[in-house]
Amino acid sequence: MNIERFDNEDALASTLAARLIEAISLKPRLVLGLPTGRTPVALYREVRSRSQRGHVDWSQVRTFNLDEFAGLGGGDAGSYRAYMQAELFDHVRMEPLNVGMLDGRAADLAAECARYERAIDQAGGIDIQVLGIGANGHIGFNEPADALEAETHVAALQAATRAANAGWFGGDVARVPTHALSMGMATILHAREIVLMATGEEKAAAVAGMIDGPITTRLPASLLQVHSRVTVMLDRGAALRLA
Ligand code: GLP
Repeated sequence: MNIERFDNEDALASTLAARLIEAISLKPRLVLGLPTGRTPVALYREVRSRSQRGHVDWSQVRTFNLDEFAGLGGGDAGSYRAYMQAELFDHVRMEPLNVGMLDGRAADLAAECARYERAIDQAGGIDIQVLGIGANGHIGFNEPADALEAETHVAALQAATRAANAGWFGGDVARVPTHALSMGMATILHAREIVLMATGEEKAAAVAGMIDGPITTRLPASLLQVHSRVTVMLDRGAALRLA
């Protein structure tokens, strides 16, 4: 893993935004895998402002988001679709058909997961998958467990993960859905390049385990050690426990 340390989250976000925009200029049909959460808010702010300032051609870029809450769709506050519209899609000139998101309101969630895998394949696979990390080491909604799912699937959320997501639901954990749809470990690991961003001391233990610990399904991010092109971008807090 290639580890990069930054003084603060703004420096990290600005470096990654510049790289993503450069990647779009080198490959106009870039396929991006995108995360939600608090961590990438600064990244999307930078990407928006750089796209508005410069001439970034988003018209052929395709995106696939990592996950979505079961039962929620575009119009629902708290959905990752609503987050992505507000943080990125409403501000760049992407073709709506080039936006890949799981539909948490689909009548048949298993079929929706299978559709997503096919759509990623048909797009030629993900060029750059951007990830955050949960404090328990989850990526997407692949939670610590004895066994992990390879492909996009319906996942039961752990109490700590629901609590960590309560901010998107007015602070009320009871309103956080109990299940979500998520890319699986193979979906993520098949990306040609992976960039994981982590900020804040509450991520330091998961980050240290991911980088220096054994590969274990109990810390799903540790599976990234098997991928040959992973960059981990950390602020000071998230790097505190590194060897
Ligand atoms: C959520 C998302 C993940 C995200 C993680 C960290 O549960 N499903 O994709 O990376 O938690 O979120 P945050 O950046 O808000 O700490």
